[in-house]
Amino acid sequence: MEKLIGKTKLTLVRGDITQAETEAIVNAANSSLMGGGGVDGAIHRAGGPKILKECKAIVARQVRCPTGEAVITTGGNLKARYVIHTVGPVWSGGDRKERELLAGAYKNSLKLAKEYNIRSISFPSISTGAYRFPIGEAAGIALSTVRDFLMEHPMDEVRFVLFSENDLKVYEDAFRKVFP
Ligand code: APR
Repeated sequence: MEKLIGKTKLTLVRGDITQAETEAIVNAANSSLMGGGGVDGAIHRAGGPKILKECKAIVARQVRCPTGEAVITTGGNLKARYVIHTVGPVWSGGDRKERELLAGAYKNSLKLAKEYNIRSISFPSISTGAYRFPIGEAAGIALSTVRDFLMEHPMDEVRFVLFSENDLKVYEDAFRKVFP
């Protein structure tokens, strides 16, 4: 599914984000930036040790990446030139500012991309795996946060790379609500 939002192409696709050919891909990391499972593990495996090396240098400077914040490293062996690592919130019922923190993770990733003049970026479905954020609500937050950012700061392409057909369908349903 794709749609032109102003000048930016917004695309929903099913696939493996480590294969994405956008200039940057976003990693759903944890605050330690030392890797993990899920998409974090896949990106480090596919991108190689250069990514972790730069994550360690970042941790040496700033200790950790707080939830909702984002940092940037090389893409290593990936097709993408950069990996933007962001930390989504762990869902704990919705009364610990999870929604705002998830929106912040998308917004801060996009702000960092703009700072680096990155024109195309791919997102996974942040926080909806190990961090158990309900995917229907997460999809609405993700798409509306991206919509609001692109109104001010157009890019060439923003892509959501969903790992399963079910996730893609949830995002397509949310897409129709956010972009009636
Ligand atoms: N490409 C695209 N999406 C993927 C891939 C992949 N290769 N692998 C997994 N996903 C999807 C999952 O199916 C899920 O929809 O990414 C989404 C996010 O799931 P997680 O990777 O579990 O991320 P999250 O829920 O944000 O939890 C982050 O998990 O891996 C650890 O170190 C990470 O502690 C952090 C936590």
